[in-house]
Amino acid sequence: MSAVSFAQNPLVAKYNLQGPRYTSYPTALEFTETFDRQAFIDAIDSSQSRDLSLYIHIPFCHKLCYYCGCNKIVTRHKHKAQQYLSFLKREINQQAKLFSAHKVAQIHLGGGTPTFLDDQQLEQLTAYLHQQFSFADNVEMGIEIDPREMTKERITHLYNIGFNRLSIGVQDVNEEVQDAINRRQSTEHIKALVEQAKTLGFTSVNLDLIYGLPHQNTETMLQTIDAVKTMDPDRISLFSYAHLPQRFASQKKIKDAWLPNATDKLRLMEQAITAFIEHGYQAIGMDHFAKPDDELAVAQREGRLHRNFQGYTTLGNCDLLGLGVSAISAVGRSLAQNHKALTDYYQAIEENEHALARGLTLTAEDELRSEIIKQLMCNFRLDKTYIEEKFQIIFDQHFFDDIQSLKPLQSDGLLVEDKQQIQVCEIGRLFVRNICMSFDQYIKPKLANNRYSSIV
Ligand SMILES: C[S@@+](CC[C@H](N)C(=O)[O-])C[C@H]1O[C@@H](n2cnc3c(N)ncnc32)[C@H](O)[C@@H]1O
Ligand code: SF4
Repeated sequence: MSAVSFAQNPLVAKYNLQGPRYTSYPTALEFTETFDRQAFIDAIDSSQSRDLSLYIHIPFCHKLCYYCGCNKIVTRHKHKAQQYLSFLKREINQQAKLFSAHKVAQIHLGGGTPTFLDDQQLEQLTAYLHQQFSFADNVEMGIEIDPREMTKERITHLYNIGFNRLSIGVQDVNEEVQDAINRRQSTEHIKALVEQAKTLGFTSVNLDLIYGLPHQNTETMLQTIDAVKTMDPDRISLFSYAHLPQRFASQKKIKDAWLPNATDKLRLMEQAITAFIEHGYQAIGMDHFAKPDDELAVAQREGRLHRNFQGYTTLGNCDLLGLGVSAISAVGRSLAQNHKALTDYYQAIEENEHALARGLTLTAEDELRSEIIKQLMCNFRLDKTYIEEKFQIIFDQHFFDDIQSLKPLQSDGLLVEDKQQIQVCEIGRLFVRNICMSFDQYIKPKLANNRYSSIV
């Protein structure tokens, strides 16, 4: 995507609706408790894949960032980590038995803050995973890092126990912004951590940024952009601040008056996107950037990028097993989620040795629509012939109503739809979620409920 000018574009006001991020289709809102352990086992048995991606959720954080919308528990009690690990190991032990024919190709530790675990606990956890699962030769091992509790020594330790990808929460480097979000951190320190990771040979370093935070303006954004440029990460995630104070109580500490208005928020996004693209990054989807030689950028150019709950990935055919409180799995034709509250998670493991709470089995129609949404989100293009051959349908007949609902978006220049394909235009990339919503059978009754964050 080349730099596009959109802050003043009337389409932004028109399409800046509420919409899902489509990390899965159907989305988690459709999960039900009728999906049980047997349905999960059936999904594993009928899965076409023998590659496995593990997501492990570590929910704890030392300190509360007021903006945070993640599933986390803020505590100063270090012993909670050990208790959590003992339950997590019981879950791993039971789940690994079901995946004995799979090989682990990817591991991602997310949170909360995975580095709430100390060096020894992280080592214990990775050793236990190796003991319980079979591993492929070159496993991608990623971990989310809160720089405030990281040292160069700890980065070295992560490398030594097998991690090869880091994602560091930067958000914003300006002190006034940091004070308003209760997250003071030193940019020099982050720089030193990134340098250490590169020197050691980490394959990829990602930095997380957020636009739309309190007191952000074009000057503070420039400071953050400049700092990121000097750190020279392989990837950048640029998230739109999702302000839902009714859902995340700590966001009430952020006064509305401190937030940039809608137009200013868009300017900040435009400023960051333009700067990163001019600096040589390739836009991957809406909110991710990668260096042109990064495997995500290459995969996108070749039309083989995929998307799962952790974001964009090159590993398409993997089953995904989520472990830990609130973690989500995508195995074969199923989606499944563990209990979201820690007490429920512990109780479920105590009673059943697993923590499945809800999920669903995709219907044939769900699978078809899931593929369409994935293609659009990842590659900004949908090849109708590919879909017709894969699913044995006549695209224009099957999706007659959906195509009609795309017409206004086409008139507004967001996409071009013809006999062969749907091609998302440059400005349309910003609204790819709106385009996907046209193929979402579940969305219409939900739109009224305001359960999603704004799209940009
Ligand atoms: C689990 S945290 C990353 C690891 C670590 N806990 C940290 O904060 O450094 C995941 C990322 O989600 C993003 N995030 C959290 N709350 C958000 C919100 N309300 N809106 C947009 N992005 C958010 C932040 O960029 C954050 O780095
Ligand atoms: S942003 Fe990260 S460190 Fe801050 S509260 Fe959320 S999960 Fe914890």
